Amino acid sequence: MDIQKLFSVKDKVVLVTGGSRGIGEMISTGFVQAGARVYISSRSAKNCDETAARLTALGPGVCISLPADLQSLDDIKKLVTELSKREKHLDVLINNSGATWGAPIDKYPDEAFQKVVNLNLNRVFSLTQACLPLLRANASTDHPSRVINIGSINGINPPSFESYAYSSSKAAVHHLTRHLAARLGPEGILVNAIAPGVFATKMMAGTLKTSGDKILAGIPTSRVGSPEDIAGTCLYLSSRAGQYTTGAVFPVDGGSLVSKI
Ligand SMILES: NC(=O)c1ccc[n+]([C@@H]2O[C@H](COP(=O)([O-])OP(=O)(O)OC[C@H]3O[C@@H](n4cnc5c(N)ncnc54)[C@H](OP(=O)(O)O)[C@@H]3O)[C@@H](O)[C@H]2O)c1
Repeated sequence: MDIQKLFSVKDKVVLVTGGSRGIGEMISTGFVQAGARVYISSRSAKNCDETAARLTALGPGVCISLPADLQSLDDIKKLVTELSKREKHLDVLINNSGATWGAPIDKYPDEAFQKVVNLNLNRVFSLTQACLPLLRANASTDHPSRVINIGSINGINPPSFESYAYSSSKAAVHHLTRHLAARLGPEGILVNAIAPGVFATKMMAGTLKTSGDKILAGIPTSRVGSPEDIAGTCLYLSSRAGQYTTGAVFPVDGGSLVSKI
C-alpha cells in the first residue's frame, strides 16, 4: 500500500459549483491546498474571481474562476465548453450550488418551489450529464472519476423549518446519486453524496441568528461544521482511499441525525 498517496488528490482536475463562498469555498480550499487544479463556478463573476485569486495565493494548487448561472441550461453548456477548452478531462465534479426558501405551507410560492428544485436537483443532473465526456475521458475502474453531490441531512430527516422545496430536492438528490452510481460505476465514474449538517454560511446565517442555541443543542458534538470536516470528506471520496465506495450518502453533521433533541 502506498500510504503517502492514499489520500492524495495532487494534480487532479476538479470543478466545484458554488465554489465562490460557503461550503463550496471550504471544499475548494481543501483541494487547492492538496495540490489540485480547481475550477469554481457561481453566478457572481466578481465573487468567483476574488475567491479564485485568494485560493491560488494559498497554493500549492490553483483555482480558476468560471462563472455561470446554473439555473440556465445554456449557461451549463457554456461552462462545460469553457472547461473543455482548458482541460482534456475532469477527475472530480462537485455539485454544490444550492438554494433554499422558507415560507408557511399555505403561502409557499410555486415559483420559489420550482427555482429551488431546478437548481438543487434538475441542474445537478444537467451538469453531470454535460460533464460526462470530460468525466469519461480519463476514467477506468482502476482510475475512476468522481461525482460528489452535496445533499443535506434535511433530505434524510425533514426539518422543523418550512423549507418544503429544499428538503424534498435534497432527498431526491440523494436518490439521484444512487441511480447514477449504478449506471456510471461500470464506466469508472463513482457517484456519492454528502449530507451536511449545520455549517455557518450565508445560507444558514439567518437561521443561526434566530435559532442558533436550539440548533446547537441538537448537535451531539456541540459545534457547527468546519472547513476541515467537509473538505476532508471530499478529499477522501476523491482519492484512492475512497475508490471502493459509490452510491453512498455520507452525513457530515456532528451527529445531528442521531440526536435525541
Ligand atoms: N450551510 C449549511 O448548513 C448546509 C447544510 C446542508 C447542506 N448545505 C448545502 O451546501 C451547499 C452550499 O450551501 P452554502 O451553505 O455554502 O450556501 P451559500 O453560502 O448560500 O452558497 C451557495 C453557493 O451557490 C451559488 N449559487 C446560488 N445560486 C446559483 C446559481 N443559480 N448558479 C450557480 N451558483 C449558484 C452561490 O453563488 P452565487 O450567489 O454567486 O451564484 C454560492 O457560491 C448547498 O447545496 C446547500 O444546500 C448547506
